[in-house]
Amino acid sequence: MKEMMDKKVLPVVGSGYNMPSYEEAYNNFNWEDVEKQFTWYKTGKVNMAHEAIDRHVGTSRENKIALYYSSATRDEKYTFAEMKTLSDKFGNVLRKLGIAKGDRVFIFMPRSPELYVSLLGTIKVGAIVGPLFEAFMEGAVRDRLEDSEAVAIVTTPDLLPRVPVGELPALKYVILVGGDGNLKEGQISYEKEMEQASADFEIEWVDREDGLILHYTSGSTGKPKGVFHVHNAMIQHYQTAKWVLDLQEDDVYWCTADPGWVTGTAYGIFGPWLNGATNVVRGGRFSPQDWYSTVEKYKVTVWYSAPTSFRMLMGAGDEVVKRYDLSSLRHVLSVGEPLNPEVVYWGMKVFNKRIHDTWWMTETGGQLICNYPSMPIKPGSMGKPFPGIVAAILDDEGNELPPNRMGNLAIKVGWPSMMRKIWNNPAKYEEYFRFEGWYVSGDSAYVDEEGYFWFQGRVDDVIMTAGERVGPFEVESKLVEHPAVAEAGVIGKPDPVRGEIIKAFIALRDGYEASDELLEEIRKFVKEGFAAHAAPREIEVRDKLPKTRSGKIMRRVLKAWELGLPTGDLSTMED
Ligand code: WT7
Repeated sequence: MKEMMDKKVLPVVGSGYNMPSYEEAYNNFNWEDVEKQFTWYKTGKVNMAHEAIDRHVGTSRENKIALYYSSATRDEKYTFAEMKTLSDKFGNVLRKLGIAKGDRVFIFMPRSPELYVSLLGTIKVGAIVGPLFEAFMEGAVRDRLEDSEAVAIVTTPDLLPRVPVGELPALKYVILVGGDGNLKEGQISYEKEMEQASADFEIEWVDREDGLILHYTSGSTGKPKGVFHVHNAMIQHYQTAKWVLDLQEDDVYWCTADPGWVTGTAYGIFGPWLNGATNVVRGGRFSPQDWYSTVEKYKVTVWYSAPTSFRMLMGAGDEVVKRYDLSSLRHVLSVGEPLNPEVVYWGMKVFNKRIHDTWWMTETGGQLICNYPSMPIKPGSMGKPFPGIVAAILDDEGNELPPNRMGNLAIKVGWPSMMRKIWNNPAKYEEYFRFEGWYVSGDSAYVDEEGYFWFQGRVDDVIMTAGERVGPFEVESKLVEHPAVAEAGVIGKPDPVRGEIIKAFIALRDGYEASDELLEEIRKFVKEGFAAHAAPREIEVRDKLPKTRSGKIMRRVLKAWELGLPTGDLSTMED
């Protein structure tokens, strides 16, 4: 089956890329050569925000645009010098509150310059930043603040109702961006404090292994996991942004991901700014017209997005593309889910560019397997390991498999941006290392004779919908909170645009009748009570759900029902 897949090879186009040929780069690589430029090499101490912003001030990049921001109501730009001053001020705002190294500060707001300023300022005082996607509802926000014992949250009046103010003992401060000036106890006005704050600021120098950021992500069971990353990740962010994103001095770079997800921080903030690149940030939701006009308006040269978005653009038709001038695009990349070969061919047709797939995870902190501009591409393959990275396919006993055999995609431990722990949960962390010396990704894949990796699926039940990772357990937990729902099982159902959509099977409590209104109400209940992107698009009512004798919902049986496939071994199923 695998052998029959389309293995067409697209050759390298053009030259002048940062990365030499793949073989040359891979064979001569050493992470230590990358480290030498960062301050700790001289002083023993470092700070990501210094390396990403401050160090460009006083160089030819000082007045270069660091950030272009546009939304329906704003159109702004900020130089590296301005970003330094603003984030220094925000650092002083936090210090005045007594917030210091190691404290957790969350940021829960739509993309705006203030989001980027607060994130950098938080890092500057040595605190650990926890960015939250704006679509999260109260339960999801509470879980994360509670688990991490956050001391402060930066948010907007619109999102404030979803912050459990006064319910969490650790949470002392709410910093409101764009409020009307009416403040309750514990609330602080961003604008007022920033106006008064001095720009005189002494950055907190930290150790490379000190905490930088917490990204919560879903697993197949249990509550979300707080994936903890340290300042040392900059080594990988810097070098991958240089070689994979191929960021060069004159590039205008647009990463479409929100900083609530790891792509939006590692490659929407750290990687590009460590390289002194100009970042474009667009507020608001996706629309093909707005996206194409953003590329046109800023003459975007390097564009990092996700398969779902490319498929939505493809779905909008080729006519709309022709209305925009996209000729500035030089390099296009994708991450988050399998990038279908059709999408790569479509990209060649409409952008005249190959779309370069990249593979990595929240836990890995940075790109690991990629298609480099200086390497031929096989559409449908995730590419080859980044220099310094050893990837392999292991069987279920941890033995390395030969080419073309499907198994567990694993990475030799010890790359710079690897997570250092799961917050409060050492047991979960250990689960990733069940084979000595390897990080086990949870993805299945195979590698071909030429060393290209091919994604096959998730080993667990984790759902990837529109590039976002959703744990079925969290959605099921929310569903059964609804008074009509007795039990729930949630699966990912294949979908041509979103990769997968969330489908819920539910059994109703006695006294409830299935109706379109009831199902819509249940859907809304998840959407408003948990997160919009995690609300099931389809709900099917069944008398009973398949369960093991220990009472675990058998999602694989639900999936088999859905796809009309054999249900496999049912020996553990209850009668
Ligand atoms: C999971 C990680 C960090 C990137 C954003 C998603 C899937 C990621 C690819 C790819 C096929 C991919 C995997 C992975 N995934 N990139 N290029 N091809 N699948 O981060 O939420 O931590 O999810 O996304 O299943 O395990 P995430």
